[in-house]
Amino acid sequence: MSAPRLDWRAGPGGPLRGELGVPGDKSVSHRAVMLGALAEGRSEVHGFLEGEDTRATAAIFGRLGVRIDAPGASHRVVHGVGLHGLQAASDALDCGNAGTGMRLLAGLLAGQAFDSVLVGDVSLSRRPMGRVITPLRAMGAVIDAGEGGLPPLRIHANKGLQGIDFKSPVASAQVKSAVLLAGLYARGTTRVIEPHPTRDYTERMLAAFGWPVRFSPGEASLEGGHRLHATQVVVPADFSSAAFFLVAASVVPGSDLCLRRVGMNPRRTGLLDALRMMGADITLETRGEQGGEPVADLRVRHARLHGIDVPPALVPDMIDEFPALFVAAALAEGQTRVSGAAELRVKESDRIAAMATALQALGADVVETPDGAIIRGGPLRGGEADSHGDHRIAMSLAVAAQRADGEVRIRDCANVATSFPGFEALARSAGLGLQADAPVG
Ligand code: S3P
Repeated sequence: MSAPRLDWRAGPGGPLRGELGVPGDKSVSHRAVMLGALAEGRSEVHGFLEGEDTRATAAIFGRLGVRIDAPGASHRVVHGVGLHGLQAASDALDCGNAGTGMRLLAGLLAGQAFDSVLVGDVSLSRRPMGRVITPLRAMGAVIDAGEGGLPPLRIHANKGLQGIDFKSPVASAQVKSAVLLAGLYARGTTRVIEPHPTRDYTERMLAAFGWPVRFSPGEASLEGGHRLHATQVVVPADFSSAAFFLVAASVVPGSDLCLRRVGMNPRRTGLLDALRMMGADITLETRGEQGGEPVADLRVRHARLHGIDVPPALVPDMIDEFPALFVAAALAEGQTRVSGAAELRVKESDRIAAMATALQALGADVVETPDGAIIRGGPLRGGEADSHGDHRIAMSLAVAAQRADGEVRIRDCANVATSFPGFEALARSAGLGLQADAPVG
């Protein structure tokens, strides 16, 4: 699944103007395929993210005996096989770059009557799986991992799972979801309590597929032994993909951009709050609902940003948006302090180190701390920076480059296709200066 290396030449760019729509939500797309596969009947998914991560999840269900048709771009028809209808795959299941894929599948596969092996790419193979293995083992799952709880994961046939009352030590929707999905196959009640509320798509979607589930911010519980019924899922546009444009239009003078029908689940929109605290001019033009999720058209105009102390309580609601926030902070007036965000060190890359190093290479004043960073705003210069193969680092650096005083060469950007296929063309259409260099290797 590893793509040839791709570098970008980015910025400086002119104002961002016009209207654009970003692709479907990654979290929702993964879950729609998973629950559609375990449901009885034919589920339709509209707005499916055609990214490598979510396509890897769909391909895995194909290997487990589920027919998934793709009648058109971003449209999937999942022919569900029911809770007990999956079949063993002949060899390892490749989750690619997707932590969500691997962690949720670990819970789901722990409930099956057959063994499975989950593998991932170089980045995913470095990410901690102990956080899901520990509660799943406590439920009776038999899972072997590599040294230090790293992938690959060998998940043995279910010999009888038991519900659990699990107080998660990390605020992680992936951990919560893995435990809840195993709970579908467990005797009794499975309950997860979180240290801080995280995105609740698994809970909402289980309910939409007809499974009784009780949930409120920070807590979710369900009983095993029910059935999932096919339904239609309409995937909203991914706030995390919109985030790059929210920052780009905020920092490039003259910008006035409208992002259409963006998913506004409150557990995802922390960046909006943080940017507004920094002085950003972002308005919600039209609000509505799509597939049971709040959506809005977001209008963002250039504004002078100033530094802030990012409230630690906002961190889980903007966990994927820190690379973009770092860019806003590097171009703001004064100091921004990020704390309580140690989770960033175990994402697709160590995002604190990756962003600090990359922005320093462009002349920014960034000091790393164990759980965040202190960023003092100032001018950026052209140069070279490394994305560490992390999609969100690459796109954030492309935004930073728009305000640099010369071109920025960004290394290793192919993984942008994991979450945001078509980013380059869309970004150019909005006004960003961005070119792909010939693929390397
Ligand atoms: C996700 C949860 C978050 C997020 C990831 C997607 C999900 O991870 O960073 O991009 O779909 O559940 P954690 O649960 O590890 O915080």
